[in-house]
Amino acid sequence: MAIFESLKNKRETMYKYRRVKVTNPLTEWNERYVLSIDNHQEIMEALAHFCKKQKIKAGEITGIGAISEATFRFLDPATKKYVDKTFAEQMEITNVTGNISVKDGEPYLHVHLTCSRRDYTCVGGHLLSARINGACELIVTDFGLTHLGRRPDAETGLNLYDF
Ligand SMILES: [Fe+2]
Repeated sequence: MAIFESLKNKRETMYKYRRVKVTNPLTEWNERYVLSIDNHQEIMEALAHFCKKQKIKAGEITGIGAISEATFRFLDPATKKYVDKTFAEQMEITNVTGNISVKDGEPYLHVHLTCSRRDYTCVGGHLLSARINGACELIVTDFGLTHLGRRPDAETGLNLYDF
C-alpha cells in the first residue's frame, strides 16, 4: 500500500500543478501494473473495468499493441462540436498515452492513441474506442490519490481537472 504526501496546489502564469511525493515501503515508487488486455477486446472498456476493480482514482497509462479498428474524436474549438472518425483496418499502436481521474463517481479515462497503418503512415487522436487484434500491453500507474476529479469547462467545452 502506497503512503503518499501531497503538497499544496500551485499556480503559475501559464499552468497549475500539484506536486505529489509517493513512497511505497517496498518499491519506493507508485503502485504500477503491467496490464495485458485480451485479444479482440475493446481497450477503453477493459481499462475502465480495470481501474474500477483496482480502485484507481488517479494515474497514468502508457502502452503499445495492435488493433483492427479505432475511433477517434476531434473537438473543433470554434464550434465546440465533436467530429468522430473510425479507421477500420489493421494498425500497430505506436503509442497509447492517457490519464485516469474520476467524474460522477466513475473512472474518467482521457486517452490518446497513435497507430501506424500498413503503409507506415500514422493516424491518431483522442481515443473513443479501439478493438485489439494482436495484443495490447499497458503500464498503468496508480498515483495513490483518493480523488482527482473533473468538471465541465464552458470556455473550452472540455472536462478539465477540478483542482
Ligand atoms: Fe483528448
